[in-house]
Amino acid sequence: MQSFNHLHFGQVSAHIKKSFDELLPDPWLREEDGKFRFRSFQKAVVNRRAEYYLKTDPVFYQSETLNHYSGGIPRKYPELRADVASTILLQVVNKFLPLLPDISYNIGIHQIRITTEDRSPGYPAPEGIHQDGFSYIGIYCVGVNNIAGGDTTLISCEEETASRTTFKLNEGDAVIFNDVNYQHYTSAIVPLLPGKGYRDVFVMTFDGEQEPA
Ligand SMILES: [Fe+2]
Repeated sequence: MQSFNHLHFGQVSAHIKKSFDELLPDPWLREEDGKFRFRSFQKAVVNRRAEYYLKTDPVFYQSETLNHYSGGIPRKYPELRADVASTILLQVVNKFLPLLPDISYNIGIHQIRITTEDRSPGYPAPEGIHQDGFSYIGIYCVGVNNIAGGDTTLISCEEETASRTTFKLNEGDAVIFNDVNYQHYTSAIVPLLPGKGYRDVFVMTFDGEQEPA
């Protein structure tokens, strides 16, 4: 898959939606930026035989070159709830994997709620327009509540085309794109009506393992 694919995963189950209420504040946001991100993280391995297993390593690391906002720090997060991880990995196996080369993958699953409140925007990508240093990235939107913004833009890295596409992910929508060929960004969210709002997503990173599945 050289570019990107839009998908619709259908109705989101109640236990997945509710699990976002239990997320803890991301301790790696800068103090002065406030608490607008709540997060869990899970590493897993998955192959085309629909076999997957969870890894116990809770550390997410990106270089400073890749992420000037929070790169260079081994970021440790709570693991996903086991029932949430298995539901999401089934979606990965059924929906994303058929679009990718037929190998095994190391997967990172980031369960993220971005919140906003009057006069406090929430930033899905505080690092700005970026690549994350993986082969592919999937974003699965589980729910949005009372927000404006949150538009995702993919920008081709090819000088000649430099094409870009902007879209909004609503509940049940997903996209998967090639992280080598595209930069990405998701714009800030603000409340649509006065009060609070949030955007709940799973961001999944894919890197091929060496051996074919
Ligand atoms: Fe990203």
